[in-house]
Amino acid sequence: MEPIVKAAFKAREKAYAPYSNYRVGAAVETEDGEIIVGCNVESSSYGLTVCAERVVLASAVAKGYRRFKRIAVSSKGDAGPCGACRQFIWDLCRNIPILMISDDGSVEELMSGDLLPRAFDNRFLKKNDE
Ligand code: THU
Repeated sequence: MEPIVKAAFKAREKAYAPYSNYRVGAAVETEDGEIIVGCNVESSSYGLTVCAERVVLASAVAKGYRRFKRIAVSSKGDAGPCGACRQFIWDLCRNIPILMISDDGSVEELMSGDLLPRAFDNRFLKKNDE
């Protein structure tokens, strides 16, 4: 298993998912080759739950990273990122490979742009310095 896949697979064990029992791990590779991990974190107020993909990207940004090469997500079966996370990935990473890892370790790779056609992003908003 390549490091980013292994990291996402392993991060799944950290998931806090007492309500759904659906565990998700994620890993993102920064421009300079660092790998940062995340997992889903659920809330008793269900709607406050945060998906693994958003946790990993928020964590990476908080660590000072802004440029990402790839993201890997480990979950049950052949699920891909939810719609909200596709938007979040596009916002912060633009068109990068998303590696989707099943329980058995098999990996399917799709581009974030292919998972979110005609994406909305800050090109449509007034200019800022971010
Ligand atoms: N979940 C993720 O972490 N990523 C996704 O892309 C889909 C859903 C989490 C949220 C919640 O904790 C659990 O999976 C069930 O929806």
